[in-house]
Amino acid sequence: MKHQATIAVVGSGYVGLVSAACFAEIGHRVICVDNDEEKVHMLNAGGVPIHEEYLPELLSRHQNGSVEFTTKLHEATAQADAVFIAVGTPQSDTGDADLSYVDAVASEIARSVDGYKVIVEKSTVPVYTNEWITRILERNGTSKEAFDVVSNPEFLREGTGVTDFLHPNRIVIGVENERAAKVMRRIYEPLTSGEYYSLPHAVPGGRTASNPPPLLEMSTKAAELTKHATNAFLAMKISFINAVANICDAAGVNVEEVAKGIGMDERIGPKFLRAGIGYGGSCFPKDVAAFRWVAEQLGQQFDLLAEVEKINNQQKKLFFRKIRSALWTLRGKDLAVFGLAFKGGTDDIRESPAIEIVQMLLKEGSRVTLFDPAASERAKAVIPEGPQVRYATDMYEAVRDAHALVILSDWQEFAAVDLDRLRQTLRHPIVIDGRNLFDPVLMLDKGFTYFSVGRPYPAVGTKALKDR
Ligand code: UDX
Repeated sequence: MKHQATIAVVGSGYVGLVSAACFAEIGHRVICVDNDEEKVHMLNAGGVPIHEEYLPELLSRHQNGSVEFTTKLHEATAQADAVFIAVGTPQSDTGDADLSYVDAVASEIARSVDGYKVIVEKSTVPVYTNEWITRILERNGTSKEAFDVVSNPEFLREGTGVTDFLHPNRIVIGVENERAAKVMRRIYEPLTSGEYYSLPHAVPGGRTASNPPPLLEMSTKAAELTKHATNAFLAMKISFINAVANICDAAGVNVEEVAKGIGMDERIGPKFLRAGIGYGGSCFPKDVAAFRWVAEQLGQQFDLLAEVEKINNQQKKLFFRKIRSALWTLRGKDLAVFGLAFKGGTDDIRESPAIEIVQMLLKEGSRVTLFDPAASERAKAVIPEGPQVRYATDMYEAVRDAHALVILSDWQEFAAVDLDRLRQTLRHPIVIDGRNLFDPVLMLDKGFTYFSVGRPYPAVGTKALKDR
């Protein structure tokens, strides 16, 4: 591809690493910087530290050619046309985003700028961060003409980050002048022109050469707000359907019927209406809190977001109570748990509702046998093996002799479990499903006592439900 730029990506976490691999995939030369020497060494040796679809393929395709990993930010900046900042912005004690990593990186970049550079905020940051980065660069002696700061928020979901990057709904660029806009347009041109999608090795997804993604240009502050507002809105959608699910539970109605009914309204849309145990992960909890903080700083009360958080916290407690009422008492019970990651398809346990629920079970005196296809190693750091805790290596080992099975992440392989074998292996055929993975009628037919979220137990009128 003819649009080659040299890009430095600072940070090799989920966002940084996926972005680095994808920029190389669309034809750029990428230098990915991290201050963790061990990680850089591992990446240069071909290791892949996170569980992400297509990432190993892309890294092995482009390593020793277009992607390299280094600890030397100074050298990377000197060579780059654009420097993408993709370091963490964790939540601080007061709810706002802790921008100390961004600050440190910006100061170091300032000392390395030797010609015109576009500095790109990729991490999720509060509105006005671009102005802070600009100020930091200027304070460190970089002249105004030598750089521009651009906001280019990512909308990647963990697990499907590569596909989301290469087949985006939209690419958002917050930019204040034509010079920087040109650099950004050139970087994304392989996607926006559709050229990438006709390559034989292109990662498959929703975009095609004739249906490429749009690039939206707006002010930097608008781009920063777009990111926070998107995540807050999606979190609100999940809390909304969870609140509806609780009403459905009380009214004996199946929430999936309601979600389908409302989701077909184009103004609402069908996605992010899956009821469950609440949202987790490294983005939604942190970004909802940070957006509330931003609003407050600007003199606005965004109480709706407090309610979104409240519903989300309650949802875990309600599900825990559901487990308790299914088993009457939890002390001394042996429970199998499927899922520790904050959702299926990832090894990430940050802010995982699954982890919190397991901790509640342990506090109540249950013994648990935990299974997750990818997150067990990470989970062991917070829930170590011990008298109450065992880790299983497969689903059937986890359920052996258990009083019940509790499902906490929506891994596809859980939904594909052999239900007959599951029933035979469990001590009691009780399944309490926080992710609504199974059809309640099928579970009843298979001989399970089955509880899920916002879907009534189909004891009465089962036949009628089935024939519908
Ligand atoms: C999210 C955003 O989707 C992404 O655009 C942003 O860049 C980062 O944050 P991610 O955290 O990877 O991505 O996960 P996502 O798939 O959005 O799910 C977030 C949480 O919501 C998970 O815990 C998931 O289980 C839960 N969820 C999602 C629901 O409970 N119901 C739904 O319908 C959808």
